[in-house]
Amino acid sequence: MVLPGRLVPTGKLAPSILSSDFSRLAEEVAVIESAGAHWIHIDVMDGHFVPNLTFGAPVVRCLRPCTKLPFDVHLMISEPARYLDDFIAAGADWVTFHIEAEPDPEPLLDKLHAAGCKGGLALRPGTPVEAVLPFISACDIVLVMTVEPGFGGQSFQAEPLKKIAAIQSAATAAGKVVEIEVDGGIDLETLPLAAEAGANVFVAGSAVYGAPDVPRRVAEFRALLARVGEEAR
Ligand code: DX5
Ligand code: ZN
Repeated sequence: MVLPGRLVPTGKLAPSILSSDFSRLAEEVAVIESAGAHWIHIDVMDGHFVPNLTFGAPVVRCLRPCTKLPFDVHLMISEPARYLDDFIAAGADWVTFHIEAEPDPEPLLDKLHAAGCKGGLALRPGTPVEAVLPFISACDIVLVMTVEPGFGGQSFQAEPLKKIAAIQSAATAAGKVVEIEVDGGIDLETLPLAAEAGANVFVAGSAVYGAPDVPRRVAEFRALLARVGEEAR
């Protein structure tokens, strides 16, 4: 649902490199860039906040010269404050961290802004939307998880989409344009459901990198975004 009078940012595809071949990260990023992806979604997991490990700021730093696309860093880590400087220095453009991991997020969001980054909050499927609403005016983005964070390739959960209307209302009331990102189980079938609910940034890991023809899959997503964008107007 798109509220009347709300500025709707254009739809963006953010493929998650979590499902790519880590031994060829630079090439995996180049393929989606030339195919037309908008952002690179980078899933950082610490084996503590979530039961899985991926990579940290050094990998982000090494990838930075490999692409011009914005880096959308999703921190699934405990104590995000400890590592924020590292990700800023590594070249993150957008950084989301979990409200469940940081009950006092405003100083971190302020730090991101002072460094010229965009920042926002992520929430697990079971976390009530009220947890992020008090901080909406400090957020450039809210990431609504549609799977339990920790692993790619899980089935999409529709229930969390109900949070989006409340995020939009709070953003409109605060006079903010807030990107609403959905993450988990997004494919060509589920993206329209998330778009209909008001999301405009779509993370897709396995649906992109698991496709037999990755550039073709990115093109299919782009065509779908154009279609749902038309319908939203
Ligand atoms: C899950 C990650 C997601 C994941 C999505 O914890 O935050 O970004 O890569 O993967 P798919 O699209 O396969 O559900
Ligand atoms: Zn993610």
